[in-house]
Amino acid sequence: MSLNVFWFIPTHGDSRYLGTSKGARAVDADYLKQVAVAADSLGYDGVLLPTGRSCEDPWIVASSLINVTKKLKFLVAVRPGLSTPGLAVRMASTFDRLSNGRLLINVVTGGDPQELEADGLFADHAERYEISGEFIRIWRGALAGEGGEAGFHFEGKHLQVKGAKTLYPPVQKPYPPLYFGGSSEAAHALAAEQMDVYLTWGEPPAAVAEKIADIRARAARHGRTVRFGIRLHVIVRETNEAAWRAADELISHLDDEVIAKAQSVFARMDSEGQRRMAALHGGRRDKLEVSPNLWAGVGLVRGGAGTALVGDPETVAERIREYAALGIETFIFSGYPHLEESYRFAELLFPLLGKGGHAGEQSLSGPFGEVMATELLPRRAA
Ligand SMILES: Cc1cc2nc3c(=O)[nH]c(=O)nc-3n(C[C@H](O)[C@H](O)[C@H](O)COP(=O)(O)O)c2cc1C
Repeated sequence: MSLNVFWFIPTHGDSRYLGTSKGARAVDADYLKQVAVAADSLGYDGVLLPTGRSCEDPWIVASSLINVTKKLKFLVAVRPGLSTPGLAVRMASTFDRLSNGRLLINVVTGGDPQELEADGLFADHAERYEISGEFIRIWRGALAGEGGEAGFHFEGKHLQVKGAKTLYPPVQKPYPPLYFGGSSEAAHALAAEQMDVYLTWGEPPAAVAEKIADIRARAARHGRTVRFGIRLHVIVRETNEAAWRAADELISHLDDEVIAKAQSVFARMDSEGQRRMAALHGGRRDKLEVSPNLWAGVGLVRGGAGTALVGDPETVAERIREYAALGIETFIFSGYPHLEESYRFAELLFPLLGKGGHAGEQSLSGPFGEVMATELLPRRAA
């Protein structure tokens, strides 16, 4: 089984427990660098950087991390409609060149009209998807050099370009791969038509299987294939009991009032994906295991990805294999706090997932742990 395993750059803060500053940390340049370097040296394939007003800008953060990492890919969010397509094309191309082909694009249409209006984008759900479709068509045409010498022309309902060209072309051909999430009908249609990888938040396997089947069927009608990925939190510990205890502790500082407030913010959004996440728990904290080892506690207050795989390493690996069997190739994980949990996940899961390089292997003082009494090497674990 060859899976792509990504981690997450926490540009909207990082906590030990949700909802309290206890054990939380400042997310500054040094900390973001630590998380990225950890992910890179542990052997994660990439990292996701989210976008939105609650986040530091993903392009600036990702740029700051190119030169402190070696192989790590950056899945950077682009919001169609916030910049002109030409500017987005140039940013992507420059990033791909400076990172020597380590850019992946996450196309984020956005699901909160209030937030988008604050950013200057006034469009309803259907119009936003029309804008996304046109934006990405231009993006692809300009980066792939369609139109040759004359450049790429496009005249859509919302966007147009005349003679769009990329004089400094991207390293990846024809352009850096396009990832994309969204659960509405319009999102599925756009994924099937133009995207390379469809991402879903961590819904139960049966629901994910339905989405995959729908997008595959739609893509086939365009003569295309789409690959699949999933975004999940993870709470893995050496035993199942310890993992479930850690899940309880993560939300132990949340009171019902904060949960209700968060849910009312999600309720004003027009995102089908967000609605599906919220429906998993219905705002209640007493029925959070929504399918075996899939826990919806994070989504009580966090927008977007709201579920976690919870369990001991073998159990979590089994759940990952279940999703992989449905056709999921890319897993984007995170855990609180992101630095420590990147190590814990690599240490406990990478050997079970056949991922190379886990914590400790690159240590000069090891290779497998601290030397004792100046000369005794630790026993190698089975
Ligand atoms: C893996 C994944 C990552 C996403 N990242 C972001 C993000 O960074 N910022 C954001 O505003 N929306 C993000 N979204 C939300 C979607 O891009 C989309 O805008 C939202 O689901 C509304 O579309 P829908 O109504 O089709 O579900 C993400 C979705 C998925 C599945």
